[in-house]
Amino acid sequence: MDIQFIKADKLKEKPTGDLPFGTLFTDYMFTMDYTEGKGWHDARIEPYGPISLDPACMVLHYAQEIFEGTKAYKTPDGHVQLFRANDNLARLNRSADRLCIPRIDTDFVLDALKQLVEIEKDWIPTDPGTSLYIRPFIFATDPYIGVRVSHTYKFLIILCPVGAYYKDGLKPTMMHIERVYARTVVGGTGEAKCGGNYAGSLAATEKAHEAGYEETLWLDGATRSHIEEVGSCNVMFKIDGKFVTPKLTGTILPGITRMSIIELLKSWGETVEERIIGIDEFVDLYHQGKVEEVFGMGTAAVVSPIGKLNYEGEDMVFNNDEIGPYAQKIYDTLCGIQRGTEPDPFGWVIPVC
Ligand SMILES: Cc1ncc(COP(=O)(O)O)c(C=O)c1O
Repeated sequence: MDIQFIKADKLKEKPTGDLPFGTLFTDYMFTMDYTEGKGWHDARIEPYGPISLDPACMVLHYAQEIFEGTKAYKTPDGHVQLFRANDNLARLNRSADRLCIPRIDTDFVLDALKQLVEIEKDWIPTDPGTSLYIRPFIFATDPYIGVRVSHTYKFLIILCPVGAYYKDGLKPTMMHIERVYARTVVGGTGEAKCGGNYAGSLAATEKAHEAGYEETLWLDGATRSHIEEVGSCNVMFKIDGKFVTPKLTGTILPGITRMSIIELLKSWGETVEERIIGIDEFVDLYHQGKVEEVFGMGTAAVVSPIGKLNYEGEDMVFNNDEIGPYAQKIYDTLCGIQRGTEPDPFGWVIPVC
């Protein structure tokens, strides 16, 4: 399939100064459509702008939608590179299977993404911690009221330049462990990246915010007895010299950052266990003084040190509410690989131009 290029009449002013997260978009977007019997068609890179939808468009009613999040970086010598975007597209197809959405051709879409990013390379910020955030997404477009699988879809990739998640360097966060609401259960959509998972998590996030915490750490939905993940990232614990992270049991998102950090730690000779971590076991280990570091892992922040975790009225404090040495070292190494200031022995980086 060829990709048509539709040129914008006028380009936007590039931003200067501090960049927000998620509110500024570049000049162009990639889009293609799917029709049953015809497959994906009409691939084009066109000016970024509103799209028109029928009010009965199925995604607006039944949330048949999936998305991804990855980033492009500019290296100090001006080259542009992606980080494991092929793994994001593979995950998009796994989400597609779960939501009954047609798969994409990942090689074709990766190529389209590279073309789009190359066109928009002047939008990629260069200050430390900044990047060009990439949001691919697919949604159901049949104008139909009734629950069934849609026969038509739209795929888009939009780009937004983003500032550093932590402007003054890493900062420990405070999280609330949720006991009332559930994010998902085995057999649900927890391991898919679909909008519905996030809509369902909002009430718990609001509750965490009202109590003064930044995010929710979820327990498993069925028994609320073991730790799963944070609302927007996976979680890693350093307990008694070993790294421990919840195992992928179908209910948590298999994070690309999680997978990278596990490989990185193992390459440093560290022990990493992927296993079920009971909340009672964890609280016990905390009281024995064995929990050395806690941090979140995800594309947006890369590493989020967790200084405090609130559970049933108690604030557990880790590493004196300071950034742990491993959180900092992992952050520096991973950001260095992503920006091309550190070697990439793992083959994670995808050159664009
Ligand atoms: C619920 C959830 N878990 C984990 C992650 C981390 O995944 P990744 O490292 O691929 O960004 C994200 C972010 O995408 C997320 O939304």
